[in-house]
Amino acid sequence: MSVPVLLTPYQLGPYNIPNRVIMAPLTRRRAGKRNVPKSMMATYYTQRSSAGLIIAEASQISPQGIGYIDTPGIHSGEQIQAWKKVTDSVHEECGKIFLQLWHVGRYSHSLLQPDGQLPVAPSPVRAKGTVNTPEGYKDRETPRALKSEEIPGIVDQYRVAAINAMLAGFDAVEIHGANGYLLDQFLQDGTNHRDDAYGGPVENRARLMLEVTQAVAKVWSSDKVGIRLSPSGIMHDMYDSNPAITFGYLIEQLNALNLCYLHLIEPLEPVDHLKQYLKQVTPHFRKIYKGTLMCNAGFDFDTGNKIINDGNADLVAYGKLFISNPDLVERFRTGAPLRPWDKSTFYTGGERGYIDY
Ligand SMILES: Cc1cc2nc3c(=O)[nH]c(=O)nc-3n(C[C@H](O)[C@H](O)[C@H](O)COP(=O)(O)O)c2cc1C
Repeated sequence: MSVPVLLTPYQLGPYNIPNRVIMAPLTRRRAGKRNVPKSMMATYYTQRSSAGLIIAEASQISPQGIGYIDTPGIHSGEQIQAWKKVTDSVHEECGKIFLQLWHVGRYSHSLLQPDGQLPVAPSPVRAKGTVNTPEGYKDRETPRALKSEEIPGIVDQYRVAAINAMLAGFDAVEIHGANGYLLDQFLQDGTNHRDDAYGGPVENRARLMLEVTQAVAKVWSSDKVGIRLSPSGIMHDMYDSNPAITFGYLIEQLNALNLCYLHLIEPLEPVDHLKQYLKQVTPHFRKIYKGTLMCNAGFDFDTGNKIINDGNADLVAYGKLFISNPDLVERFRTGAPLRPWDKSTFYTGGERGYIDY
């Protein structure tokens, strides 16, 4: 019997990875004071080092980029040292680990921001809902629109964080362009109402994402930079009037950058306003993107093998299954039953539900 394609090696940029079962980035809120990774994070990631690749959780590129309590950063010496222990430990087990670079933009609160400043965003468009702050849950605030002259400073935050990720021993980085955070807020027209070079037509709305990607690719080589997008992005109160055109333009531009991979998130539920534009995200953009394509959201072993065998993706990222099955690759290989995840411990901060699966 032939080996299922998910369990076959793949040449990912400069790395030959042993299988195509990728661990998706997962925020677990196990960082300590000053957003420094705790030592149990080394245990957690090392337990999962048989993944073809680990994409470590979203990590703030700057104090301004933070949106959630107890999430790690990659902007201080202390954080770099702590991450180095994680990457060393994963490397001892022959794993590969990339870091996801994150700026939440409007999805923060002044109580989480340096000096109690308002969160920054492309435009003063407030997200619905509440946010967990050191003083409890608060309504979201109307963010402050970044001035045109502040934008080079944002690109620089990513550049410096990319250098820090290298110092911390990561094998590469993934730019978090998905799920309604800063770069996605610039891209989608529901949150970008600017009239400068970063707003209006899609060429302008995609500009920040592309400038950031180019800046990060100057630090790492482009074959060590991935990018994650969510073209079905309604998460975190996002909206675009024509995602097929918006994301189609961006993805065409990404072709020229020869990145390590493009990582796409499928909608988990049918999204009404998207139906007329996009039925299934990955097969649609497969026709546009020329490089390595990773897909995610809701896959199991069979559907993961199928999407690769159908020629619609090269790699499949698994999120929740990796939370509850550190040895997911082995379970896929042997057909052993998969353990269910416990949602109640996703973000609780302790070792329970984190390193005891
Ligand atoms: C607990 C949890 C934390 C997450 N954190 C992140 C994150 O830090 N960055 C990100 O891009 N996506 C994050 N996601 C989304 C996952 O990467 C993934 O897209 C989602 O779980 C769907 O994939 P799955 O069906 O395989 O779980 C998170 C999801 C969960 C459940």
